[in-house]
Amino acid sequence: MATLAVYPGSFDPLTNGHVDIILRGARLFDRIVVAILVNAEKSPLFSMDERVEIARAVFRDQPNVEIDTFDGLLVDYLARRQAQVIVRGLRAISDFEFEFQMALMNRRLNAQIETIFMMPAEQYTYISSRLIKEVFSLGGRVHGLVPELVEARLQDKLNRGAKVNA
Ligand code: PNS
Repeated sequence: MATLAVYPGSFDPLTNGHVDIILRGARLFDRIVVAILVNAEKSPLFSMDERVEIARAVFRDQPNVEIDTFDGLLVDYLARRQAQVIVRGLRAISDFEFEFQMALMNRRLNAQIETIFMMPAEQYTYISSRLIKEVFSLGGRVHGLVPELVEARLQDKLNRGAKVNA
């Protein structure tokens, strides 16, 4: 049976750390779905449509990477999709506690689903969507830390006077 993995998150915005994990997942599993959580934050910087569009553009040449959205319980989404694996990235020890809690809660909710953790390349271990927004909004360089499309979209938002550090 083909293995379908789901990589869930807010992706506000997609970073090169996310891209790294998704490409690793695409090599390991038959198919990986990047599942963007609807309403993860009350006021996200990028709308759901923008986040979907950006991710689809970034992975347009990866036939086994799919972009989708979900709401409600993650395990229910996996059951609907008949997916077996949740992929999460682990950057530092500080990620571990929350990830451990989520993995065990998800296992309690559906013991058929396994969570797999993957480490991104070292150069991405310190980046997060939150830090990208903060650094960019204060005039810092984020080149090389996010896909070029994300960098351009951040610049557009800044030019249009949006509050980037949401
Ligand atoms: O990008 P994030 O914020 O780290 O992603 C967190 C996410 C989307 C994986 C998590 O909030 C989630 O799975 N939410 C869906 C609701 C759910 O199933 N909650 C229980 C998880 S134990």
